[in-house]
Amino acid sequence: MQQDLAHGQPPHQGVIRIGLDAVDAVREALLARRSGGPVAIVADQAVVGLAGRIGHGLQGVGIDARLCTMVADERSKSLDTVGSLASQLLAHGVTRAGVVVAVGGGIVGDTAGFLAATYMRGVRCIQVPTTLLAMVDAAIGGKSAVNVVLRDGSLAKNAVGAFAMPELVVCDPSALNTLPPREMQCGLAECVKHALLADAGLADWLAAHAMAVVGKDSAAIAELVARAAAVKVAIVDRDPTERGDRALLNLGHTYAHAIEARHDDCVKHGEAVAIGLVAAMTVASRLGRIGHAQVEALQALLERLGLPTRLQDVVGAPDPAATLRRCMDLDKKRAGRGLVLVLPQGPIGAGLVESPPEDAVMAGWSAVGAV
Ligand SMILES: NC(=O)c1ccc[n+]([C@@H]2O[C@H](COP(=O)([O-])OP(=O)(O)OC[C@H]3O[C@@H](n4cnc5c(N)ncnc54)[C@H](O)[C@@H]3O)[C@@H](O)[C@H]2O)c1
Repeated sequence: MQQDLAHGQPPHQGVIRIGLDAVDAVREALLARRSGGPVAIVADQAVVGLAGRIGHGLQGVGIDARLCTMVADERSKSLDTVGSLASQLLAHGVTRAGVVVAVGGGIVGDTAGFLAATYMRGVRCIQVPTTLLAMVDAAIGGKSAVNVVLRDGSLAKNAVGAFAMPELVVCDPSALNTLPPREMQCGLAECVKHALLADAGLADWLAAHAMAVVGKDSAAIAELVARAAAVKVAIVDRDPTERGDRALLNLGHTYAHAIEARHDDCVKHGEAVAIGLVAAMTVASRLGRIGHAQVEALQALLERLGLPTRLQDVVGAPDPAATLRRCMDLDKKRAGRGLVLVLPQGPIGAGLVESPPEDAVMAGWSAVGAV
């Protein structure tokens, strides 16, 4: 299956191309619209093989491609890395008419996206996401950012960034062939979130095709990416600069951020999101926004996909519920207002709830095993 999703509003428009070979798709795009001077391929070291093949594909048609690699960890998603990459681009002679091709997961996509948005005040950008999470989430929407180290050594995540739409996002299912299973599952958690937000049939489809998706069947991945990406595209197109509906994408994330703040040594973001979805659904059920059967259906789907539904599934000794509850206020402080949760409403969809009742918030923690 091959599919194009149009994305954004003029003049900030892009295309998400799903189901094509990445080498062919990048070469065709750059042949259709030539770059002025060398193209910079900024790649995760973990996918240097794919990045090299993309580079050879370009060299084969006479396009000068230069490879720069980076390590994909949150400490490398930094202004220092952007500076070092910019210095390499200058040395390679990449001009204002050049192109940055990002090949990697969300860390490389965010870093290279920010580089493209700011290098010589902005150059063209093509994203080649290599994680499921980046295909359905991070590479879509034109948001890029890097982290900043605070005085106490901790990281202020995504503290410096820019909005700049990539002209093309290439989602090649075979790019996931080398992705470790746990990273694959983290992407699946975001797909489940998108199903709950806006695709009534996607949860059932995921349950029916779980084996094919986990086994990285190309056709199943292409269909999943097309459906899950379409949910994000629709939300972002309604709210490109994050003033309203885009907040819905935070479904499950207020709980997830608290879990990550306390247990980031053993929990990955997608796993925290899966647990956070169960907590948020439980709160919604307590408030009569959804039926309890929906919470049970979500738990069954997450388990089928190999995702955790309780803290104990991934954390040996979870922090007490009261400690985790206090951590939710970190998000609140950042937003400068009371606790706001994104909560499902009815069979599909969600809305923002300001200052939800405290007993319902704690019921969410209790449902995922915090005492
Ligand atoms: N810009 C946005 O709108 C947005 C949205 C969501 C998340 N993000 C950001 O995305 C980042 C997380 O992205 P992610 O989950 O893709 O993580 P990631 O980029 O860290 O990749 C996860 C791990 O998989 C490895 N990897 C990537 N592709 C691989 C492949 N094909 N084969 C083998 N290994 C591979 C990486 O080296 C890394 O170790 C975070 O920094 C987050 O802030 C941004």
